[in-house]
Amino acid sequence: MKISSGKLPKIAVLGGTGDQGGGLALRWSLAGYHVTLGSRSVERASAMADQLNKQYKGAKLEGAGNRVAASAAEVVVLTVPYKFQRATVEEVCEVIDGKILVDVTVPLMPPKVARVHLPEGGSAVVSIQKLLGSSVRVVSAFQNVSAQHLRNLDEPIECDVLVCGDDVEAREVVIDLAKAGRMRGVHAGPLVNSVVAEALTSILIGINRRYKVPGAGISITGLSGETTGPR
Ligand SMILES: NC(=O)c1ccc[n+]([C@@H]2O[C@H](COP(=O)([O-])OP(=O)(O)OC[C@H]3O[C@@H](n4cnc5c(N)ncnc54)[C@H](OP(=O)(O)O)[C@@H]3O)[C@@H](O)[C@H]2O)c1
Repeated sequence: MKISSGKLPKIAVLGGTGDQGGGLALRWSLAGYHVTLGSRSVERASAMADQLNKQYKGAKLEGAGNRVAASAAEVVVLTVPYKFQRATVEEVCEVIDGKILVDVTVPLMPPKVARVHLPEGGSAVVSIQKLLGSSVRVVSAFQNVSAQHLRNLDEPIECDVLVCGDDVEAREVVIDLAKAGRMRGVHAGPLVNSVVAEALTSILIGINRRYKVPGAGISITGLSGETTGPR
């Protein structure tokens, strides 16, 4: 599915009832995107959508089951804990062919979440691209932005978003999504590079604990303008 230029793509956020997915969905809804929160439970998704719509003026979120939400979207965003990443993708794989999948998964291994854990083969996101094949363009992003910041609309998010993916056009779509969420997306190369963003989150969690802060992040220095564009 080609994203037509000038038209905002429809977004589904799977696991959108959670902290990270809910925060991203809220920001995109406020930016004018049509966003559906996906969940294993339609009731939970609808209740969360209603709650956010009431709490944040201008939000127009909808709720649906993960599969229904993914069917209707052009860009599908995956925000579930690592343990459920593969099963959630398997549930929607038939309806996301030709689409962009933005995977936010960090392969944390509770309880030692401040210790870098990489799954067999390196990156959790690369394993999803392998599972889906090349007809789904998988992009890795938003692993280093704390959910704490996403619903705080009053403060700017200083954490840059590393965007990795093998398809440059798909990466551009996600750079636009970062911008719509009032973040700076930075092209960070092919999907295999996602391993760095995935690992970095454990370091940031450790920094949060050590310095007693809610959401440490990273900022790429040396860039002029908003992004450098594709490499
Ligand atoms: N929180 C952060 O600050 C943060 C920052 C960067 C990256 N991330 C990454 O983003 C992802 C989501 O994080 P989160 O903190 O939002 O997680 P979360 O709140 O713990 O869970 C997100 C959603 O996952 C769904 N879920 C729970 N158990 C499931 C299961 N057995 N099968 C399928 N879905 C299940 C739930 O939705 P339903 O019950 O409605 O289906 C839940 O609302 C994780 O991979 C995390 O590492 C999080």
